[in-house]
Amino acid sequence: MSRLRIFTEDNPREPLLSTEATFDIEGELQKIGVRFEQWQAGKPVAAGDAPDVILDAYKDDIERIVAEKGFKTVDVVSIAPDNPQREAMRAKFLAEHFHKEDEVRFFVDGSGLFTLHVGERIYEIRCEKGDLIGVPDSTLHWFDMGPEPRFVAIRFFTEPDGWVGHFTDSGLAERFPRYEPGAAG
Ligand SMILES: [Fe+2]
Repeated sequence: MSRLRIFTEDNPREPLLSTEATFDIEGELQKIGVRFEQWQAGKPVAAGDAPDVILDAYKDDIERIVAEKGFKTVDVVSIAPDNPQREAMRAKFLAEHFHKEDEVRFFVDGSGLFTLHVGERIYEIRCEKGDLIGVPDSTLHWFDMGPEPRFVAIRFFTEPDGWVGHFTDSGLAERFPRYEPGAAG
């Protein structure tokens, strides 16, 4: 299940709120300008399908987002638990950073953990299959794909270097929960 937990930045142990209700996740994230949607495929699609098949299955929603936000590039990224680069890939965005454009990701399959730092609050969002998240440009955040990453995601970019992370060295991400799919809680 998708889940949102909200913490204060000085207490990573006890969330102020924890919810798996889509309506509540959307509502809480909307308050901080973060888009959260759940999409249905327009036609049958599986994790191993070619990128163009995957993009075609979500064509209507993709076109809506591209028209609204002006994205220039849409691609599909896949990572499996046996990927030899998984540790390096996981490490890449584990520390607090921001981008100069929105970070918009749709989970075709699998899952991942986005954590956002907004004001004095920490918003931890477990994204699952069918979830779209849109993190606005300049929003501080980190992303954990977990020790055995598994996901297929559609990514949206405005600029060729839109994925480049600008790191804060705050050490904040290191104090909050990492992604451990299957762990209790
Ligand atoms: Fe990022």
